[in-house]
Amino acid sequence: MDNQKRFYITTPIYYPSDKLHIGHTYCTVATDAMARYKRLTGCQVMFLTGTDEHGQKIEDKARQAGVTPQQFVDNIVTGPRGILDLWKLMNISNDRFIRTTDSYHVCAIQKIFRKMYDNGDIYKGRYVGKYCKPCESFWTDSQLVDGKCPDCGREVQDAQEEAYFFRLSKYAGRIQRLLEDTDFLEPRSRVHEMVNNFIKPGLEDLCVSRTSFTWGIPVDFDPGHVVYVWVDALSNYITALGYCNDRYHDYEQFWPADVHFVGKEIVRFHSIIWPAMLMSLGQPLPKKVFGHGWLLLDGGKMSKSKGNVVDPYILAEMFGVDALRFFLLRTFPFGSDGNFSNEALISTINVDLANDLGNLLSRTVSMVDKYFGGVLPERQEADSNKDGELTGLIAALRGRYEEQMERFAFQNALAEVFKVIGRANKYIDENAPWALAKDMQANGPRLARVMYNLLEALRVSGILLTPFIPDSAGKVLEQIGAGGDCSSWESAGRYGALPACAAVRRGENLFPRVDAQQALERLEQAAQAARKAALPPLELEPQAEEQVDFDTFCKSDFRAVKVKDCQPVKKSEKLLKFTLDDGTGTDRQILSGIAKWYRPEDLVGKTLMAIVNLPPRKMMGQESNGMLLSAVHTEHGEERLNLLILDDSIPAGAKMC
Ligand code: ME8
Repeated sequence: MDNQKRFYITTPIYYPSDKLHIGHTYCTVATDAMARYKRLTGCQVMFLTGTDEHGQKIEDKARQAGVTPQQFVDNIVTGPRGILDLWKLMNISNDRFIRTTDSYHVCAIQKIFRKMYDNGDIYKGRYVGKYCKPCESFWTDSQLVDGKCPDCGREVQDAQEEAYFFRLSKYAGRIQRLLEDTDFLEPRSRVHEMVNNFIKPGLEDLCVSRTSFTWGIPVDFDPGHVVYVWVDALSNYITALGYCNDRYHDYEQFWPADVHFVGKEIVRFHSIIWPAMLMSLGQPLPKKVFGHGWLLLDGGKMSKSKGNVVDPYILAEMFGVDALRFFLLRTFPFGSDGNFSNEALISTINVDLANDLGNLLSRTVSMVDKYFGGVLPERQEADSNKDGELTGLIAALRGRYEEQMERFAFQNALAEVFKVIGRANKYIDENAPWALAKDMQANGPRLARVMYNLLEALRVSGILLTPFIPDSAGKVLEQIGAGGDCSSWESAGRYGALPACAAVRRGENLFPRVDAQQALERLEQAAQAARKAALPPLELEPQAEEQVDFDTFCKSDFRAVKVKDCQPVKKSEKLLKFTLDDGTGTDRQILSGIAKWYRPEDLVGKTLMAIVNLPPRKMMGQESNGMLLSAVHTEHGEERLNLLILDDSIPAGAKMC
């Protein structure tokens, strides 16, 4: 056990400020695939994820929602369809989950802050600069891009307060060497970005405490100050192992981390600030930070405020968890941005899973069933030279896959597996088992070998797909009768591990084809509902700033009117024509653009309110004498209108004042 290799991998800890979307899911699924792969290869794995729960943004959101910050984050982390539910749904196999509000973490952060203060790396000063609230980041003027936050492009605010500073500048040289001379940060393109944009212009000391809000970890030796949320958040990677606390005891065993997977916009924190903090604490540095790209929608970043987030729950429910996991890692190169689209998702499911893998499995299993009653005979033809290409690919697959997985090139690793699956499908056509089966006496041993080779292709592919589609890959192996040793990592490295008399067990169709048109329609409906839900629930017209004097107001003649008749206006979708009793004895005609909200017959007999001294106006060739009054507002982006309907006891012609 002690010789077992250890592997510690982390995701960023997520902000529970909104429900998570497919972009967040992407990173966690990638980390999960890596953790499962390492377990498969025999490593002892620690896979950590969690939530980053402090900061002004959370405090503000909780206030808006009328709850405490703790209640607010609890709901998003542990509530229905919250973060924990999402990871369960996505079959995420994390070994640990940290919340930065966990008391052991809070105490550990206080100790960490004090350690850095005691060793002189944290000192008290005055912060003057700019602050980006959504990113919880301080910026100097020189770092702003067009006067805006360089990370998210939003407006920044002036900020000034007494604060503690971390001597980041002291570590600039060491950090630059770490980035330039080692493989600490990948992909390599991110190194130039960090060095050129942040280190070369001069690394300034970092403001690491705030006094303008309270939802954070208090600096225990200076009440009123809370620890900067990034110092709090980054430290999760060590506090979750037991650093400066007694809750866990795995620090010696797992630190330094083998890799932190992080999105590209937080590479700066992980490749500059985090190593500097560890240097200050005298602790070893993580072996690697990998900055992955973003999933984009229509070329832009997903964001709740744009109403363009893709909900992983909806996709997983429609297509299945494994199909979604597979799509994310098969389609986009992990280090670069990728454009998410429903069309691409459906096409990947249909091409790779339904056509290639699904067909190979169902054809192979049903042929073994049909020709051999589900169990292959021991007597098989020795390898013929017709088999060499396929069996060679099977034998080499694990090595090729491993090479890609070790570089976090999930897309390429899957491409290797699908080369073998594609070759196996072609092998079926080349060998035409249905033709061989016509003369079992003569061709039985050859047919058995063909079937065996197909099962072997499925076995090795199935094992190597386990990190990506754990449930389905397990079912593939079950259907082809590859249990126990035949499903191990070791056995994936060679052709021929399956016993000759393998027994298949026909099962469900694992990857049904998706009807693209139907699915796209359903997704569009769901997206519309989501866009609507993202709009503010209620929008009211701002009140007029200009004042009217009382005499002017009194000139408007508002009267109660009774509807004698109401008809739609021909060729108009908007207008209704009202015949009204206004108390004068002569009918009054008013046209009103409210057909969208009312059926004419429902208004007859109602008492309404009208202004009657507007000059006459022609609409669609008909005269309108006055205007009916309504209340208008916008709800979830839709305009709403309610006529002012008065009590029927008010007589026609009564003046409103
Ligand atoms: O940054 N595509 O939390 P977070 C790919 N709390 N990845 C995406 C994405 C997208 N469209 N949208 C978000 C934080 N992400 C901090 C981390 S770690 C000590 C603290 C990724 O919830 C994003 O790049 O805003 C980041 O890596 C992760 O989701 C968490 O983002």
